[in-house]
Amino acid sequence: MSAFDQSPAPGDAVSSGAPEPLPRLSARPDWRYLLQETYELYRYSSSGGSDKIRAHMRKVRETISRLMQDDPAVRAPTPARVPVTDHLNRALDSGRSTPLAPIVRCIEHVREQLQWQYGYDRVPRGLAARYGFAELAGPNGPVESPDVILGLVLFAPGCVYPAHAHHGLTESYVCLTGAVSENHVGVYAPGSFIFNPPAHMHRITVARDEPALLLYAWVGGRDDLADQKMVLGRPRGGGAGQNLPLEGPRKAD
Ligand SMILES: [Fe+2]
Repeated sequence: MSAFDQSPAPGDAVSSGAPEPLPRLSARPDWRYLLQETYELYRYSSSGGSDKIRAHMRKVRETISRLMQDDPAVRAPTPARVPVTDHLNRALDSGRSTPLAPIVRCIEHVREQLQWQYGYDRVPRGLAARYGFAELAGPNGPVESPDVILGLVLFAPGCVYPAHAHHGLTESYVCLTGAVSENHVGVYAPGSFIFNPPAHMHRITVARDEPALLLYAWVGGRDDLADQKMVLGRPRGGGAGQNLPLEGPRKAD
């Protein structure tokens, strides 16, 4: 074949030049099972008799159910780690021996694909080695979802996550491993469910001897969910969808 002959040889792959379509959720069973286990957490966890929490849990699971029926695309963001992910082995090991083992195992199966990040241009002092999050589903993926953001947040032992609020969003955390407190009003062990309505200021502290892995879910309007990150942003007039800090990070007690 001459240098000018561009015709493919027999057996050569032929590229159309168009980008490969993203795989659908039905073709990525590890991600589908993870969503299924998340649905079941929100289906079978107790609401503790709270009608507000019950309504939030229903909203999250109905959104996940619709998402699974819609068979969305699954992106493959570049896997990334941050220093706190050195604690992920310990967190997952702990989670295998709890009733939450089914979802913890599902997380293990996608862990090499997770994009752990801070979400900050400049990480607040005290958080750089003690905090990171990885999205599972949302407007920016990995599972494309305009109506709910699901993710994981990992805290090192002794982390204090500063007070913040989510405007326009209702948030819940499910404690998967470790133990955390929020606003000093309770201690949340694996299986505990924490509910933060829009604009509710909350500050999280983490036990000194074990990391804590939480699953978070955010529901709200599509505009409010777009461009959201699990971060403390700078207040810019208190617009919808911003996470507003109340105080800077502190060292653990
Ligand atoms: Fe929060």
